[in-house]
Amino acid sequence: MMGSFVKKNNDFQLCRRAFITGSAGLALSSALPLTSALATGVREYHINATTGLAPLAGAGQPETSIWGFNGKVPGDEIRIPQGERLRVNVTNQLKEETTVHWHGIRVPNAMDGVSHLTQKPIKPGETFAYEFDVPDAGTHWYHPHQNGFEQVGRGLYGPLIVEERKPIQVDRDIVWVLDDWRLAKDAQISEGFGNLHDIAHNGRLGNTVTINGRDPDPLHVHAGERIRIRLINAANARIFGLNFASHNPKIIALDGQPVEPFEPSGGKVVLGPAMRADIILDMTQNAGEKFIVTDHFYQSQKYRLVNIVYGPERLRDAPPDTPITLPANTLPEPDLKTAERHDVRFNGGMMGGMMMGGKRDSGNMMNMMREGKVWFINGVAATGHVMDPLLTLTKDRSYILAMQNDTAWHHPIHLHGHSFRVLSRKGKPTPRREWQDTVLMAPRENVEIAFVADNPGSWMFHCHVLEHMAGGMMGVIRVA
Ligand code: C2O
Ligand code: CU
Repeated sequence: MMGSFVKKNNDFQLCRRAFITGSAGLALSSALPLTSALATGVREYHINATTGLAPLAGAGQPETSIWGFNGKVPGDEIRIPQGERLRVNVTNQLKEETTVHWHGIRVPNAMDGVSHLTQKPIKPGETFAYEFDVPDAGTHWYHPHQNGFEQVGRGLYGPLIVEERKPIQVDRDIVWVLDDWRLAKDAQISEGFGNLHDIAHNGRLGNTVTINGRDPDPLHVHAGERIRIRLINAANARIFGLNFASHNPKIIALDGQPVEPFEPSGGKVVLGPAMRADIILDMTQNAGEKFIVTDHFYQSQKYRLVNIVYGPERLRDAPPDTPITLPANTLPEPDLKTAERHDVRFNGGMMGGMMMGGKRDSGNMMNMMREGKVWFINGVAATGHVMDPLLTLTKDRSYILAMQNDTAWHHPIHLHGHSFRVLSRKGKPTPRREWQDTVLMAPRENVEIAFVADNPGSWMFHCHVLEHMAGGMMGVIRVA
């Protein structure tokens, strides 16, 4: 049923691929809702969760009714220098409760925005003030942590950029927030959020991909130009695998955390839901040329995301040779020799028409499934955010989580309040031991991560395919 839906709507989608130009990226920045930089060094923003319209389906199509911060999708960019203090007053103008989670920022637990677990949800008409320091420079984002598959799915999210004290030199620094929408023929959002089919399979994959909430115009560039693109995957479920045609993007940060610059294998920049990648794109081709950026993560669904169009003039003979390595953030280094090791197994979902549970008997399984609980961490399917902790960790100790994906699906696994090093995949050490806050696990893959549990509180640990999360793939890790 889903298959035919996607097929039918592909035509609708493929003729007008979404993308945004650098100038539109700048326009986003100039729309800063910054209301004051107080003498105390606190930057204050006001954002309203409300409804709005967005040109998701492109020219000649009706605008789409969305939910967005300040009525826009993405919500206004929040931009703040590293080490400063941020205050965001969130007003809820929706008809339902909400919260805001600052994905990637190592905040104190009470500011983490997880409904019921870290705060009472913000009722319609209420305002909640979040305030915290931003320790880590990088590309982060914000989104609700209440009825997420619908609230984020309807467009409630925005970029949160923390500027380095000494930024690297680029000609342009732009933000691309990627999203994937399931639109009906009238260009309005299809209902059916959180249906059991989406939950038990790939999540809510859509039929219309946007960059910065709009149908894409070409990226106009100049030969010799150096562009930093901050990619943010805000989709509920779609994984992107971007190919920049005859260009070799270098990844300089993952999930906001600097990484030793590298060219991803096959030139493909892979981003699971919630993940970010900062890339350096040197415009190494010639004036007047045109290239197509494609997404070919899903083998059978390759499509054109956006065009790169070179203007007639050359900016410089060759890309600059200035360094592109970002200064590291100050993260506590896990001590692998003394780290305590815990196994974490992910089960569930459909596989060959069968529900794949943990140790549960099949009768119990069927009941769980009827209730929409189809995903398990260490044999437990979560209901809501409040539960007994999956793990209780001792503050300031080092931990290794040996995670095993026993399902037939990809899962981007996110831990709140911490960044972790990805130590190994399939038993092989990772070459860069990258810091991430969300790690994409392939079907049957095992991944080891390590971190120092230095941030006290109860932290969500969950799959960021928001339908999988709703279907139970979440837990609480308590640091005490
Ligand atoms: Cu993007 Cu639990 O979060
Ligand atoms: Cu998942």
